[in-house]
Amino acid sequence: MRRDATLLWALRSPCSFACKYCYFGTTEEHKLAPPSAPGVLSHLSRSDVPADQLKAFARTLAGSAITRVVIAGGEPLDWPTTLELISLIKEAGCQVVIATNGVPLTRPGMAYRLIDLGVDGVSVSLDSADPHTNDQLRPSRSGRFGHGTVLDGIHTLLAARGEQHAPRVGIYTVVMRERPQEITDMAQLAEHLGVDYYVPQPISLAPDHALFTKLTHRAEDAPAVAEQLDLLYARPSRLALPDPSYTRRFVAAVSTQESGEVANCFGGTRLYFAQPDGSIWDCPSDRKIAATRPEERRTLRDADARTLFAAPPVCTDCSHFGRDCVNMWPLVLDMPRLLAAETVR
Ligand SMILES: C[S@@+](CC[C@H](N)C(=O)[O-])C[C@H]1O[C@@H](n2cnc3c(N)ncnc32)[C@H](O)[C@@H]1O
Repeated sequence: MRRDATLLWALRSPCSFACKYCYFGTTEEHKLAPPSAPGVLSHLSRSDVPADQLKAFARTLAGSAITRVVIAGGEPLDWPTTLELISLIKEAGCQVVIATNGVPLTRPGMAYRLIDLGVDGVSVSLDSADPHTNDQLRPSRSGRFGHGTVLDGIHTLLAARGEQHAPRVGIYTVVMRERPQEITDMAQLAEHLGVDYYVPQPISLAPDHALFTKLTHRAEDAPAVAEQLDLLYARPSRLALPDPSYTRRFVAAVSTQESGEVANCFGGTRLYFAQPDGSIWDCPSDRKIAATRPEERRTLRDADARTLFAAPPVCTDCSHFGRDCVNMWPLVLDMPRLLAAETVR
C-alpha cells in the first residue's frame, strides 16, 4: 500500500471564535436558515460523527494510504476526545498537524499533552499583527479571548517544547484585499515570536458571501499582493515558508474570479477531506464538492481507511481550480519543509 496521502480532517463543528469569513459560515445566519446542501459546513451542525465511531475509524488508518492527518474544525482542541484521537492516529503511524485558534494552548497542561502525544505540527491562526484588526476579524464569541490570548498560547507551547524538535509551531494568516502588507507584517511578528513556519493564504469566499466585495481580491489587487510575497521571500529569515512556487499560485488565484485547470492534481490521490458529519471528499474545494455526483459521495461512518483511500490514481486533471485550492499545497507538498528541523529556504 502506498502511504503518501494527507487527510484534512475537520473533526468537530463548534468553535469559540466567530470569524465572519469562516468556511463554516456564521451562527447568526444558520440560526435563521440552517444549510442543508451536501458539503456545506456549520458551527451549529447536529450531525457530527459520535466519538466512538471516529475512534473506530482512526484505528483503521494503520496500513492505509494516509501518512499525515491535519486536524482542523471548528476548533479541535476544545473537544477532549481530540486528544484520544490524536493518540490513535499517532499509533496508526501518521504524522499529526493541528490547526487551532490558539486559545486552548493557554489551558494548563494542554501544551505538554500535545508534546507527549508526539504531535508533529501546530498551526495557529492569526490574521493581523495589529491586535485590534485581528480581533475584529477573529472575534471570540465570549469576548474574553483575542490576539493577546493567542500570543500567550504560542509562547506557552514554545516554552513547553524547549529544545525539543516537535511539535513545529507555525502561524497561518488569511490575507484579505484591504491589507496586503499583512503578508510581511505577520512574518515579522512570527519571527519575533520565534515560531518555525509561516503560511499566508488568500481569503476564499463564495461570490454571494456578504463580505465578498469587501474582502476578496480583485485582479487589480494582484500587483500589491505579488510585491508583498516577493518581499517575504527575499528577506533573510529563519522562518520556513511554502516552496516559492506557492507565490505563483497565490497570485494566480487572486488575479481571477474564474476557475482554472490543474494537471495532475493531488486531490483524491494524495489529499482527502473529511467533514464533521463524516463526509469524505477528494479535497475541500467548494467547486469540486459541488461537482461531485451523488453516487460518488462517501462517508467515514462504519468505513475502513484501508479501503476508503485505496482507490488507485485515476484521471486527476482537475478543472475546478479556485482560490480555496491554493491553501492545499502547503498541507500536502510543502508540509515536509514546514515541519523540517531546519529552515530549508
Ligand atoms: C476553519 S479554521 C479551523 C481550525 C481552527 N479553529 C483555527 O482557527 O485555525 C482553519 C483555517 O481556515 C482559515 N479559514 C477559514 N475561513 C476561511 C476562508 N473563507 N478563506 C481562507 N481561509 C479561511 C482559518 O483562518 C484557519 O486558519
